[in-house]
Amino acid sequence: MTNDNIVPKEWDRNGLPGWSYFSENLLDVENEELFRKHWQLVCHTNDIPEPGDYHTYDIAKERALVIRGHDRTIRAFHNLCRHRGARVVAGASGRCNKAMICPYHGWAYNLDGTLRGVAERNSFPEMKKEDWGLKPVEMEIWHGFIFIRFKPSEQPSVKKILERFEEEVSYYKLGEMVPDGNGVWKESLDVNWKSIRDVDNEGYHVRQAHPGLHDLYGNDYFDEPYIDGASRSVGYFSGGPSKLWSVQQYKNILPKVESLPPSNQQAWLYIGMFPNIVLGLYPDSVIYYQELPVSATKTIQQGAIYKHREETREMRASRYLSYRIDRDTMAEDQMLCVWACEATQSSAYEGIVLSDLEYGLKTFHDHLRDKIPALKKIQEPVKESLWTTESVDR
Ligand code: FES
Ligand SMILES: [Fe+2]
Repeated sequence: MTNDNIVPKEWDRNGLPGWSYFSENLLDVENEELFRKHWQLVCHTNDIPEPGDYHTYDIAKERALVIRGHDRTIRAFHNLCRHRGARVVAGASGRCNKAMICPYHGWAYNLDGTLRGVAERNSFPEMKKEDWGLKPVEMEIWHGFIFIRFKPSEQPSVKKILERFEEEVSYYKLGEMVPDGNGVWKESLDVNWKSIRDVDNEGYHVRQAHPGLHDLYGNDYFDEPYIDGASRSVGYFSGGPSKLWSVQQYKNILPKVESLPPSNQQAWLYIGMFPNIVLGLYPDSVIYYQELPVSATKTIQQGAIYKHREETREMRASRYLSYRIDRDTMAEDQMLCVWACEATQSSAYEGIVLSDLEYGLKTFHDHLRDKIPALKKIQEPVKESLWTTESVDR
């Protein structure tokens, strides 16, 4: 696919309305319609290899945990004690030995979520244990990655959403990757979550804003549009010499990965999943990152890196170098997100105009407008109208 055969001659280049980047009322709708009703990536099965290992995930005023049972099965639950709602596991990740013990009054849950015991049992009337287990959360494991969904919705399975990339993804053997040992990284940014997506969903800025990435790809980078909840972007390494030491070194030493076809040996591939997940598939490592809104103008961005289980010295060094390029790119993007988000509250703001090279971003906005039709309004509608699912006019 290239730009020419995808971008129509005429299209709406206006982006989302300014108010949608600072409206707390809108965030309530987004929490319900997007974050609770769309798959969220928690971690990888190899993050929780042993019985009792768990990871937690909080978004949209919901709290979940995924935990491996004694039978080695992974299950997902609301991280909500049935007594008075405390977190049953307090840490972001860790290991429970025999059971999950609530830190508040000590109710104990088996690793399969069933109630194991109640402290001071006689202080309660008769209660059936089977009625008081942790509440399950819908879960799907896709190529080793664990996804959860807090509320049922018409969104298809992860497998279905990402089906058109299945063959290409399978070369990367994602299920066999292991964590890099540094856990989940987190950054708190004073921006609306969509401002981060807006920057991430277009490659037009790479030449100007990302010296390292531009050195790696040259102009050979392209964002395919979002279609049915997923997108694909790919940057093929440029052939010529690179100006930056880390980029040149990376190209020099990156070893061949036997399972990858030639086209993917020298490329970074990104798979986006609506609304807030990106997987980066590199020959040396696999990364993910995602945005978790805290308020309309505060967002946590977090992610993790996975490596090949068996790594040569060259592969390890390559992974370090790709991490360096990525780290610089992320830092460069943060500033751009903040500026774009701030601008929406300026008295001079008159909206935006998108280039054909930002068409992928427009298709992301289309997905948002489809779920929340009020986003078509130039002025912020009253609170009740934000919830309408009917199509609306500008
Ligand atoms: S809230 Fe968990 S034991 Fe009381
Ligand atoms: Fe960027």
